[in-house]
Amino acid sequence: SKEQPLVGKHVLITAGPTQESVDPVRFFTNHSSGKMGYAIARQAADLGASVTLVSGPVSLDTPPGVKRIDVVSAEDMYEAVLNEMESADVIIKAAAVADYRPKETYSSKMKKQEGPLTLQFERTKDILKEVGKRRREGQFIVGFAAETDEPVRYGQEKMERKRLDAIVVNDISAEGAGFKGDTNVVTYLNRNGKQEAYPLLTKDDVARRLLLSIATDLKGE
Ligand code: PMT
Repeated sequence: SKEQPLVGKHVLITAGPTQESVDPVRFFTNHSSGKMGYAIARQAADLGASVTLVSGPVSLDTPPGVKRIDVVSAEDMYEAVLNEMESADVIIKAAAVADYRPKETYSSKMKKQEGPLTLQFERTKDILKEVGKRRREGQFIVGFAAETDEPVRYGQEKMERKRLDAIVVNDISAEGAGFKGDTNVVTYLNRNGKQEAYPLLTKDDVARRLLLSIATDLKGE
């Protein structure tokens, strides 16, 4: 019979980039395609979970059986995640959320001017940190960390600072890893000091291994 260790679990996943508007035609964003988060959603459903996917703007099909909530900005994602988190057993934050947004959003298209343009940016809300604060007993929270230097050390620090149960460290400087492609190279770290470095795998295989590790850690709690 098929292995379905996530039956009865509600898994909330975020995926994709966010878009932060300057005016009706322009926005700031990043290179996330959503592929990593969508692979996690697809595999979680396949492993028996009920899945909610909070997605930034991407051009991917919703995996079968997954409830998808579309958002645009970091602020939208913050609200959607806080609305949905109550019933979640596992929360996995694979989205690449903007850390800054334009301080002002203009309702009319900005006109060209002579000379350079200076824009001011302000910080967005840290969704993961808020989730860590509001977490209830028994919820298992997994962050992602996209790093280029000393990924494991920074990942560990992020896990502790944001009160996470586990973190997936994405060494985006490694060949075949990170944004856009169909493969990834990650290390899974958990609160108990487990450290699993996965080889280069497709994002679906990364997702599956990750969810199996999470299922094991859930049982151990
Ligand atoms: O979408 P793909 O093209 O497949 O690419 C996959 C990926 C590289 C985007 C993914 O694997 C990944 O690493 N996602 C996290 C990217 C990231 O933004 O890392 P970070 O170190 O900046 O953020 C750390 C964590 O905090 C993340 O879980 C992020 O969702 C969360 N965060 C960040 C900012 C913010 N305002 N709120 C947050 O919750």
